[in-house]
Amino acid sequence: MSQIRLIEVESYEEMSRLAAETIAAQIREKPDGVLGLATGSSPIGTYDLLADACAKGELDFSGVRTVNLDEYCGLAPDNPFGYRYFMNEHLFDRVNIDKANTFVPSGTAQDMDAEAAAYEARVDAMGGIDLQLLGIGHNGHIGFNEPAEGFAPNTHVVELAARTREANAKFFEKPEDMPRYAITMGVGTILRARRILLLGGPDKAEIMERAAHGPVHPSVPASALQLHPDVTFLLCRQPPRAK
Ligand code: GLP
Repeated sequence: MSQIRLIEVESYEEMSRLAAETIAAQIREKPDGVLGLATGSSPIGTYDLLADACAKGELDFSGVRTVNLDEYCGLAPDNPFGYRYFMNEHLFDRVNIDKANTFVPSGTAQDMDAEAAAYEARVDAMGGIDLQLLGIGHNGHIGFNEPAEGFAPNTHVVELAARTREANAKFFEKPEDMPRYAITMGVGTILRARRILLLGGPDKAEIMERAAHGPVHPSVPASALQLHPDVTFLLCRQPPRAK
């Protein structure tokens, strides 16, 4: 029996408000806790609200530590299409976080497998993730864990699925700039988080339903979340804001 709480809300604003409240409560409860963060259009509104709360002096990021899910291989931290850049722009540059405490896997390490192992070890050394924020791909991917033969236990390098490349190519100047490979936390890394919150818009309604209530199978990576005791899915009935 799935224990996933699937909550539907009308608007993107409502979804963002609920997600920001959950994250803010987590930060207040454990000011030096570890947040697992995601990119994509779903969390942008959440990050806006967290930045607003910080600007008003209602939230203090000074002790917060963060680890991001994934990064494209080949994109440097200052690449505007990369995920480090996204995180700086949408959250880190707008709050009083110490950037030295924010981690995104490197897409340009010489030895990507060594980078993946080091990233996994870093998450462990930080004491694990208190609250992991997730989006979901149309094929059920979480982070960049694509449908596969098995659930990947740890951070690793993946070849992106054709459907993922199609969906994300629009964010690049030219579709052919869309990278073929990415580095991502494994499904196992994600499942070791103490609490998980997944956000999705109306185009994800069907896959969220399958992930929450269908069979647990690596052909739908997000279905592994059924194995975790504390997962909430927030589904909004309005499309997320464009990036
Ligand atoms: C990308 C990211 C995923 C994210 C997904 C959903 O593929 N690598 O981590 O979950 O986008 O994106 P959106 O929030 O735009 O639906």
